[in-house]
Amino acid sequence: MTDTLDIVRTVQELRHRIRAWQGEGLRVGLVPTMGGLHDGHLALVKASLKNTDRTVATLFVNPKQFGPYEDFGEYPRDEDRDAKLFKEEGTHMLFAPDAAEMYPDGFSTSVSVAAIGDVLEGAFRPGFFTGVATIVTKLLVQAGADQAFFGEKDYQQLQVIKRLALDLNIPTDITGVPTVREDDGLALSSRNQYLTPAERNIAPVLYKTLCAAAEKIHQGNDIAVAEAWATEELLAAGFTHVDYVTARDGATLDAYTAPSQSGRVLAAAKLGKARLIDNVSL
Ligand code: PAF
Repeated sequence: MTDTLDIVRTVQELRHRIRAWQGEGLRVGLVPTMGGLHDGHLALVKASLKNTDRTVATLFVNPKQFGPYEDFGEYPRDEDRDAKLFKEEGTHMLFAPDAAEMYPDGFSTSVSVAAIGDVLEGAFRPGFFTGVATIVTKLLVQAGADQAFFGEKDYQQLQVIKRLALDLNIPTDITGVPTVREDDGLALSSRNQYLTPAERNIAPVLYKTLCAAAEKIHQGNDIAVAEAWATEELLAAGFTHVDYVTARDGATLDAYTAPSQSGRVLAAAKLGKARLIDNVSL
């Protein structure tokens, strides 16, 4: 555990501190977050502490990745709580810039990742991945860290970030960290707090259904039939709308065809005010 958690607010200071560590031969890990910390975020910190010498977390609720009717206003913001949790976990430094530092006057550049960023979440949340890709590119370029850690809970986001780092020659190694779940299987998410107690009881059905659908596909059942079965299961359990349940190639997110491919079953479904996403390997 570190004694003090330094909070830096400017890109200049972030760069200066990270370059100094790297100059001493230390490897630096980056853990980008929007706060609202839970054990899933802390698993990213743990992975960074294990794989690198210095861990820098970032905290910025990025307005550009929220649609006009999404929850930007309601998104949990409590920097003191998050800083305390980061510190207890052993994080060495927190970068918590304000919006003007990240998006200076006249900001006009965006990063958009075609194909893999256009499907699934990209189709249901227009602009979302451009917002994510833009801020993550900025954070990677600003920090120049050796390795950066992202949760597999946002599986498509992880693949989009791997793609942009490869395409833009960003030399930070992008590492995925397995999803952290409640005992009943519900994937941890800052948005779970929007669930009412009754909805919270229904929510674990998402993970159970994804596991069952993956098992059906694994056993050789028709993919479209398994996907349709899973959709019906979710609706029968009380989900209000199913955006998708789909088996995809694990790297490109193209259609899953051959059993030899590494696959992923991904889903997004609404439960009252909350929109839950999850995925399992095939
Ligand atoms: O996964 C998140 O919390 C965000 O999308 C990220 C990667 C921090 C970018 O704002």
